[in-house]
Amino acid sequence: GHGRDKAAKGLRFTPVAPNSADQVTIPEGYAQNIVIKWGDPILRGAPDFDPEHQSAKAQAGQFGYNNDYLALLPYGRGRQILVANHEYTDEILMFRDYDAANPTREQVEIAWAAHGLGVVVVEEDRRTGKLTYVPRHHLNRRITATTEFRVQGPAAGSDLLKTSADPTGTKVLGTLNNCAGGQTPWGTTLHGEENFNQYFANSSRATDKRYGIGTGPTERKWERFDKRFDVAQEPNEVHRFGYIVELDPYDPDSTPVKHTAIGRFKHEGATVRLTRDGRPVVYSGDDERFDYFYKFVSSKRMRRGSSRSDRAYNMTLLDEGTLYVAKLTGDSPAIEIDGTGKLPSDGEFDGSGEWIPLATATAKGAVSHVEGMSAEEVFVFTRLAGDKVGATKMDRPEDVEPSPRTGKVYIALTNNTDRGKAGKAGADEANPRNLNKHGQVLELTERWNDPTQTKFAWSLFLVAGDPNDPATYFAGFPKDKVSPISCPDNVAFDDHGNLWISTDGAQLGSHDGLFGVATAGERRGELKQFLTVPKGAETCGPLVQDRRVLVAVQHPGELDGATVDNPLSAWPDGQGKHVRPSVVAVWRKDGGDIGV
Ligand code: FEO
Ligand code: CA
Ligand code: CA
Ligand code: CA
Repeated sequence: GHGRDKAAKGLRFTPVAPNSADQVTIPEGYAQNIVIKWGDPILRGAPDFDPEHQSAKAQAGQFGYNNDYLALLPYGRGRQILVANHEYTDEILMFRDYDAANPTREQVEIAWAAHGLGVVVVEEDRRTGKLTYVPRHHLNRRITATTEFRVQGPAAGSDLLKTSADPTGTKVLGTLNNCAGGQTPWGTTLHGEENFNQYFANSSRATDKRYGIGTGPTERKWERFDKRFDVAQEPNEVHRFGYIVELDPYDPDSTPVKHTAIGRFKHEGATVRLTRDGRPVVYSGDDERFDYFYKFVSSKRMRRGSSRSDRAYNMTLLDEGTLYVAKLTGDSPAIEIDGTGKLPSDGEFDGSGEWIPLATATAKGAVSHVEGMSAEEVFVFTRLAGDKVGATKMDRPEDVEPSPRTGKVYIALTNNTDRGKAGKAGADEANPRNLNKHGQVLELTERWNDPTQTKFAWSLFLVAGDPNDPATYFAGFPKDKVSPISCPDNVAFDDHGNLWISTDGAQLGSHDGLFGVATAGERRGELKQFLTVPKGAETCGPLVQDRRVLVAVQHPGELDGATVDNPLSAWPDGQGKHVRPSVVAVWRKDGGDIGV
């Protein structure tokens, strides 16, 4: 067994066994609390949660639905600012007697108000890792599908972004499908706009097809209530989603920004590393089967001050620089990596890679590096640019996280059950299994550990699955001493240099969960499960601080046949109640640091 003493520092806890309990299951000796739930009132004047009499106005002042990415920013005196993504809505679990063919205007407007971002000040318990939220704090804020955003960067004001409501092409209402994200070194948060395609109806354009935008009505039918969601009536509105957005949580009056220089695709999230001379480099995955991962290297240096003008300046850092897409080459013959479980002849799934420049944005204008596409087209139809330059088709690039200790970059590739199917790309060394159900985590090392370089080395850190499956790999660590893991999605580092991985859609019979794994030292690859989530839920937003682990329990009870009248999970409020996506804090009962 793997007792708590021998494990790497930060991972000294008794692992949670795979299970399907309808609760958040945590290690022995740990405690938990629910920090905030869908519908909890956060703004002044917002009513208590009453799901039988919900209104759009109430929801706009309450914590949103389906919490995903989480950030905690310092706020002094035992307080922090929690920022959460509200990725999407599950109408069937929100509204009793929901008629999917004919949603009402009120239901649709509630869904608009339940999407977006939430900002809420949280208070730390003095003796434990417990967190509670502070209602009506002046920094508390909701960003929804109707909040005004400013468009910045090379596609701002482009003809491709002009609509009848916004002939300037610089003002967008709302952010949608915010999945993962990242904190910047200048105190703001970044949020990916991921599966924005699902909100837009009636397109017949090839560019939209590449993004999965449908030819008919949408499932949610929003296009009936606002024509901007109908591509046939408002062709450019869809070009205004699919970006990285930036929020300044310290200024409740600030206008959030959409950054076009990081490209338009199904951004899972965005994470920042600084160059030696203080310029941000942003990594971002495009979560789709056979899509790509990218980096953006800014040409502007961060200002270290925290005055209003420094902060405003820093919110322009991501508007000038070069956008790259990744191309990977394996160094072993492909014949040996066909999913039979054999390692490549050199003992590792590894190779070299190249960042291919797509376009460069400057203060004076933008230049395309892709033949046959203008710079504006590259930034708005980024997937097509990646296609043209022959980027490597990956197994659904999800969250990316550079190690704050080593600079190595970790990319979660969640799964790809279409790999190797007729007419689709087959296994390669970086995506070594056909019909890949369990996913892998790739470790990328920039040349000279310099994120501005265009060459890198890579290897697979984990090939996920049941450790008894010979096709799995845990960085060479003995497989009888690791937890099973499937479908890695979000990743985060603790202060000890361990990578924490949360899963979405695990295919091993257990509920999704959170895992910690050592990335360096002799225990590199030792992976241990820290918690599992309730029925139907996905584990999101992991954050590991000294004294607490924070997770977002997303879409509990999202199971086939579940409705408000037939809830298939009782979490968190008990049997027969509405299921509620919620944020959970976990800490050690004896007050010690996590896993030490
Ligand atoms: Fe919303 Fe790619 O997970
Ligand atoms: Ca190899
Ligand atoms: Ca995700
Ligand atoms: Ca996912």
